[in-house]
Amino acid sequence: MASVADLDRLKRSHPMLDAVIDEVDGRRIRIGDNWLADFASCNYLGLDWDREVIEAVPGFLDVWGTHPSWSRLLGSPVLYEQLEERLTELLGCEDTLLLPTITHIHMSVIPVLAGNGAIFMDGRAHKTIFDGCSIAQGHGATVQRFRHDDPEHLEELLRACTLTPRVIATDGVNSMTGNAPDVRELARLAREYDALLYVDEAHGFGVIGERRPDEPCDYGVRGNGLIRHQGETYENVVIVAGMSKAYSSLLAFIGLPSRLKDVLKVAAPPYLFSGPSPVASLATAWVGLDVNEKRGDRYRAEIHRKTHRVLDRLGELGIYTPNRSGFPIVEIPLANHEDIDVVGRYLYDRGIYVTMAAYPLVPKNEVGFRLQVTAANHDEEIELLCEVLGELDERFDLQHADHRQLMRAGAGWPEPATGP
Ligand SMILES: Cc1ncc(COP(=O)(O)O)c(C=O)c1O
Repeated sequence: MASVADLDRLKRSHPMLDAVIDEVDGRRIRIGDNWLADFASCNYLGLDWDREVIEAVPGFLDVWGTHPSWSRLLGSPVLYEQLEERLTELLGCEDTLLLPTITHIHMSVIPVLAGNGAIFMDGRAHKTIFDGCSIAQGHGATVQRFRHDDPEHLEELLRACTLTPRVIATDGVNSMTGNAPDVRELARLAREYDALLYVDEAHGFGVIGERRPDEPCDYGVRGNGLIRHQGETYENVVIVAGMSKAYSSLLAFIGLPSRLKDVLKVAAPPYLFSGPSPVASLATAWVGLDVNEKRGDRYRAEIHRKTHRVLDRLGELGIYTPNRSGFPIVEIPLANHEDIDVVGRYLYDRGIYVTMAAYPLVPKNEVGFRLQVTAANHDEEIELLCEVLGELDERFDLQHADHRQLMRAGAGWPEPATGP
């Protein structure tokens, strides 16, 4: 408890942690008597409130009941096969395997891929990747961290490595900064050093996709993820993505070669033992894919427009955010990490609900809050947010370019810890 005392104190005292949500109306949520605009949702495409998706669910329940309670090895409704085929086509990879969550996949697949070999993990990889690597370590793999966004450091480590097999594990769109790595460079290293690049696409899938001259915005089209967005192939690359964010469904998948799928069907414990996703989630994923085909690019253009309004406002105010991609995750670090409580309270009182990034979830110099912009956030909510950002800037110390220069020149900032 001592190691997480700051977070425990905030959890007890702060209305935006461990909150009980009493009512939801689109991206407005009610906690007690307070209605707030929700910028903590990752339902990027807004499918959680899409009438076509909602109305389709009872039809699936009539056919399949609420829940297939076989583990996947025992048997799966044909919906699984159909979803896997559709995802394979959308991603343009060789095959796809569905499991309930990304966490299940990291914990079970990373150890299988790594065996007694070596894992090279990005220094800011998501905590669930870190945990998957720790399990792999317990099974005999060696884990080394390369500096975040530093392929040269990765190459040094790969060059010195004598173990096989080799896995390079990284986030796609980073869940804090909103930025993506250069997967072309990582994939090149994977091929040159006989490694497998393993990319967590929790936040990219559904939001960014392949580029086309007629794309409505620079997120690309179809939402088929970072590998397609950067024009890369799946040679020596597997991706793991979830539908619990952009597709509002409790379901995740790994895009992989069929040969590896066969291995995982007998070696990955969640395929063998875990309860599967509920039918309602299979249904919302299925109809979500229909909606993606019909209206997904329009929704992505909306996310893009609204995100850029927020980023432009931050630019106007000179407030620092690490987001350089324009993707819809916008973190705003504070100058003093002790201010997190009062800043959070101010946001709450002004009707803005955010993800609090408190220590030790993030290093002290990154303590602040994170906003996600979804297609379902109304323009009035975005405008309220922009107004409140101005008020925050007047009342509290946020990080500005001059503050960052000072910190770098002075005490210096430590290497970031593993992400939350
Ligand atoms: C980058 C990343 N990976 C994995 C997860 C966990 O996903 P799941 O809920 O599917 O286990 C999250 C959730 O926040 C995430 O942001």
